[in-house]
Amino acid sequence: MIQQRVYLDNAATTPLDRAVIEAMLPMMEKNFGNPSSIHAHGREVRNAIERARKTVAGLLNTSPAEIFFTSGGTEADNTAIACSIEEYGIKHAVTSSLEHHAVLHTLEHLQKIGKIKLSLVNVDEKGHIDLNHLEELLKTNPNTLVSLMHGNNEIGNLLDMEKVGELCKEYGATFHSDTVQTMGHYKHDLQKLNIDFIVGAGHKFHGPKGAGFLYINADKKIHPFIHGGSQERNMRGGTENVYGIIGLAKALEIAYNDMDAHRKHIESVKSYMIEKLKTSFDDIQFNGDSDNLEKSLYTVLNVSFPPSEEADMFLFNLDINKISASGGSACTSGSNIGSHVLGGIGADPNRPSVRFSFSKYNTIEEIDYVIEKLNQILKVEA
Ligand SMILES: Cc1ncc(COP(=O)(O)O)c(C=O)c1O
Repeated sequence: MIQQRVYLDNAATTPLDRAVIEAMLPMMEKNFGNPSSIHAHGREVRNAIERARKTVAGLLNTSPAEIFFTSGGTEADNTAIACSIEEYGIKHAVTSSLEHHAVLHTLEHLQKIGKIKLSLVNVDEKGHIDLNHLEELLKTNPNTLVSLMHGNNEIGNLLDMEKVGELCKEYGATFHSDTVQTMGHYKHDLQKLNIDFIVGAGHKFHGPKGAGFLYINADKKIHPFIHGGSQERNMRGGTENVYGIIGLAKALEIAYNDMDAHRKHIESVKSYMIEKLKTSFDDIQFNGDSDNLEKSLYTVLNVSFPPSEEADMFLFNLDINKISASGGSACTSGSNIGSHVLGGIGADPNRPSVRFSFSKYNTIEEIDYVIEKLNQILKVEA
């Protein structure tokens, strides 16, 4: 019997791990110095930040000099895109219509103010990137920025980063990938990947909100996005979010240490839900490739329910039945515009679509509860 609410919106944000809270507490209770101060109070906090940077760099198999802490994924994406375009005189960028707005709106803005010409690479009906088209775009446009996300936050599709990295290398393009949804869930080995910028946001892997980071390949030096003090080795002005940085590093460490076990567990929860949905309901569709465990994030399942006159009520009905899930991306919830990702793959707008996204804390019992409630909701609607 489920007593509490069921939380299936982990692609929007995840609950803090208890060990992360424990790691952050001393920074709140006693280590309050400003890391830029040269006295002992400042130095101990500076050392803690540098240890956190070393931890993040070690996990990603890169050097601490290539890791820069930011306020989250959005700032890291903006920095990589705007500053590489500026630094390298880039006049053409390639992205897809299915990117997060942190990328899409940034590039659209740069096109609007005349900095770049933006090309959208084709996607197939499942939402996968057409790599042949990408190659054509790169062949005809030297000095391009390619920005393609690793794991789609709405439908879960995974990108072949190795392949895109090779293409970018072959045609001399700069490669940025929004890795917000895969950071802490997949291993990124930066010695093997051919990539210039990747990003992370602590709150997507049981760390704190408002803390993220940008990896900048040592060969791709850029100037800051936020000007001010000399923090982050002159790459980002502003007093550091000390608790956030410490918490982020701890969360990433836990995520890496326990990744295989968590993945196995979450995959079993997702597979169970797919099977239950298929056997319990007649007219269910999975958006993108989200029911394909190989080609999609194991944390995301995007489901289209039968067409309904009251599609807008679907999430509300889940909510009053104590289930938190999201329709499309949480980042646009609250606005009345439908999901640009579901629109981009031609999903039926008359069908209510729900993104269920999982974490290590979800259980099979919770999925049984959700299926039971979905049965009730769909019966009332029929
Ligand atoms: C793919 C993707 N990119 C970027 C972001 C933005 O990250 P943040 O909330 O840390 O700014 C999100 C958050 O939803 C995301 O899912």
